[in-house]
Amino acid sequence: MKFFIDTANLQDIAEAQAMGVLDGVTTNPSLMAKEGITGKDNISKHYLAICKIVEGDVSAEVNAVNCDGMISEGEELAALHPQIVVKLPMIADGIKACRYFHSKNIRTNVTLVFSAGQALLAAKAGATYVSPFLGRLDDVSTDGLHLINEIRQIYDNYNYQTQILSASVRHTMHIVNCAKAGSDVMTGPLSAIKGLLKHPLTDIGLNQFIEDAKKMKL
Ligand code: G3P
Repeated sequence: MKFFIDTANLQDIAEAQAMGVLDGVTTNPSLMAKEGITGKDNISKHYLAICKIVEGDVSAEVNAVNCDGMISEGEELAALHPQIVVKLPMIADGIKACRYFHSKNIRTNVTLVFSAGQALLAAKAGATYVSPFLGRLDDVSTDGLHLINEIRQIYDNYNYQTQILSASVRHTMHIVNCAKAGSDVMTGPLSAIKGLLKHPLTDIGLNQFIEDAKKMKL
């Protein structure tokens, strides 16, 4: 399973990259706004700065909500850097734009997906990635993981090449469960990725090894 980090924070991206396990980055307008990025030039520069840190795909979301607007914005984003993937909302115009980008060999990520039917449409439109929001479904007492399992089954039934990019991942068990469900990618915060490192028995065992190594007088 590929690991993407879901942030526009350059320090967090650099830290995850330095861990050696990062495969890409996802951003959205909320995450960009959180970093205080304003104005078209600064937004473009920020995406380029992210592309410089990581080697993999970087999702950059359009702000338009009509097909023509999404196409012109998405074409500009895609032209910025070969690593950029155009992120489109799961609405009728987003699906139309997705089909257009597919015909132009421009990679896409269809976001704000909350049902298997939406994921099926995204695959039929030729999306490179589909982003089901695991955490936000869990937030409203709905089993987010069930959706990941449903999409996996549907995509496998028809050999759709669209990659399942489990999004709105919040913690370590989301990551582990996504891997068990056969998600192609997960995107989450640095805290969830680093959380995977933790086990008290690892710390106790290492301290014991360090103490015993001293007895060997290396
Ligand atoms: O990639 C989608 C993600 O940013 C949503 O995460 O935590 O805001 O639900 P969250």
